[in-house]
Amino acid sequence: MNRKVSASKIIVALDLPDVDLALRVASDLRHSVQIVKIGPELWMQGGKDFTARLVDIGFEIFLDLKFHDIPTTVYRACRASAALGVSMLTVHALGGAAMLQAALEGVQEGAKKRPPRVLGVTLLTSLNADQLPLLGMDPSVDRLVKKLAQSAWEAKLDGVVASAQEASAIRKTFGKRFLIVTPGIRLTRAESQDQKRVATPQEAFQAGADYIVVGRPVIEAKRPQEVIKRIMDAALDSRKK
Ligand code: C5P
Repeated sequence: MNRKVSASKIIVALDLPDVDLALRVASDLRHSVQIVKIGPELWMQGGKDFTARLVDIGFEIFLDLKFHDIPTTVYRACRASAALGVSMLTVHALGGAAMLQAALEGVQEGAKKRPPRVLGVTLLTSLNADQLPLLGMDPSVDRLVKKLAQSAWEAKLDGVVASAQEASAIRKTFGKRFLIVTPGIRLTRAESQDQKRVATPQEAFQAGADYIVVGRPVIEAKRPQEVIKRIMDAALDSRKK
């Protein structure tokens, strides 16, 4: 089930508190990484201007603001995001069919060139089965993620964000054209921080992930480029086995 692995399949989450720092990290990674992810923290600092700046430098942008609102609001947010020239964006699959369709209409309306790919967030990788009953949700992570992926697939989204633990079931059920983007990546399980459903890069790619998202292990490293190289070596190594 191994997908084609290359450095272009590593998305670096620029979860950083200010634009200067984010620009420094991004510049350091300029020749090893193609896609960077902007989440709420950096968006609050840099917004549109900073996003446009990263696009100008040549990065593809994954705008991970996880929209979850009424369809009209999500339509407008997605239209505005597409107009910025981002390549991928997220909405919560939990938002329901009308909201997911509104997201797709929004990106098609807003894009000047190719519309960004719309990914449905299934279940945050910081949640596991212990928390689900408290939220009134199906206590089986596998079943819940599959239901949410089904909802994204039926709405014709481009794919989903899901942990490595559910990636192979999603791949089997929805086929090879449905994108799977996998966060919660750690080089070793010991450093999981607030993430609960973590995997190594090789486990994620072996499970069928198209892209992996790595934040803190890269951006908090003294030499981010070296961590990218270690991720690549590990992922490529797993293909030889
Ligand atoms: O630092 P770390 O590698 O844990 O960062 C993971 C990134 O992926 C964060 O930016 C987080 O917002 C994002 N993410 C996640 N789980 C999801 C969806 C997105 O961790 N289900």
